[in-house]
Amino acid sequence: MSKKPNLPIDRLLSELGSLAQISAAEPPVVTRVVFSEADLRARAYVKGLCSAAGLTVHEDAIGNTFARWQGSDPDLAPVGTGSHIDAIPNAGSYDGTVGALGGLEAIRVLQRLGFSPRRSIELVIFTAEEPTCFGIGCLGSRMMAKILTPSQALILRDKEGRGLEELRAQAGFVGSLESVALPAGRFHQFVELHIEQGPMLEHEGIDLGLVTHIAGPASMRVVIEGEGGHAGGKLMPGRKDALAAAAELILVLEAAAKSSGSTDTVGTVGVCEVFPGAVNSIPSRVRLETDIRDTDGARRDRVLDTLRAACADVSARRGVTVTTELVNADPPTICDTEILAAMETAAAEAGRTYKKMAAHAYHDSSFMAVIAPVAMLFIPCRGGVSHRPDEYASPEWIAGGVHVLARTLARLAS
Ligand code: GLV
Ligand code: MN
Ligand code: MN
Repeated sequence: MSKKPNLPIDRLLSELGSLAQISAAEPPVVTRVVFSEADLRARAYVKGLCSAAGLTVHEDAIGNTFARWQGSDPDLAPVGTGSHIDAIPNAGSYDGTVGALGGLEAIRVLQRLGFSPRRSIELVIFTAEEPTCFGIGCLGSRMMAKILTPSQALILRDKEGRGLEELRAQAGFVGSLESVALPAGRFHQFVELHIEQGPMLEHEGIDLGLVTHIAGPASMRVVIEGEGGHAGGKLMPGRKDALAAAAELILVLEAAAKSSGSTDTVGTVGVCEVFPGAVNSIPSRVRLETDIRDTDGARRDRVLDTLRAACADVSARRGVTVTTELVNADPPTICDTEILAAMETAAAEAGRTYKKMAAHAYHDSSFMAVIAPVAMLFIPCRGGVSHRPDEYASPEWIAGGVHVLARTLARLAS
């Protein structure tokens, strides 16, 4: 395939650089937790760029942001694109932002080419794709799709015990939570550009991933209550060490994910909070946050079952109390064949190599899929690295993604 030259994307690269500077941590580390001061500054920056591009910007009651390029038939449901600009602590510059600012650049490319869409094209920047604040990912798109109802959202708390009502009000977002839900048909189709967050495309030297499935994420919180005490005075017989019990559970989860029969199954314990957390004190309480994902929902649920069974076993053997709470267990997403076909044609026209692949990270597209046909377009990222400050996508990769996205949007909106 001979690659067509890309239109220059210098402005986009400089905007990605500027956005990366808006961080609660010292750049190049990006930390931009939803509703934080950095998040609000980043939102203001992106909204300014959207307005400068002539898009009509509005926000819903939790800060999901919509920027519309009006089509020649404004009564038709728009084609959506976009992603998120919040970032986990100690993150890099490309997760989400490539789809947010790259979506805007795709619109600007079409504007520069004098293209006139029949359907409006609407950029969406989702609130809180990352679970850092409330412990649940994709808050904005979940609420849009009514997978998370207002009453469920109201009981979410951050680490300081603050709820959504308090935090969104402080951030200046008002209005009823009911109004966040969107009806099916509000978007004609939705397509999200994103870095792969895995090594496959770079490894195989392929320009683009056309995402056919998005893995279904699940998260289970496990709290183990044992018996604390003096690390010297209390001898080993009869101990009820909550962290030793937790260690067994962590290894059970790892083994269950590894032995599922598919490398699509992944299991992680990313949070292990130990109380009281003193070197000379036996841990009396541990909270684990687990993350389990798979492109096959039933196979993922078998891992959850194995973990639950291990909780009961460890509790009985060690005399500790183990409680579990399923935070979420979302089904895998199947992407829309019409959007995939449009992306395939667009990639071929642009002379870009591509492969069909699954997405193993989760994305707002999974929840948009409840109200609209969706698909995703992946670009490579160096070494498959993501959620780290050294996350990197080359200008060439980003340009390829943006231009194929632009061609795809042009097809879908015609
Ligand atoms: C999203 O960032 C995820 O954890 O997949
Ligand atoms: Mn992420
Ligand atoms: Mn992301």
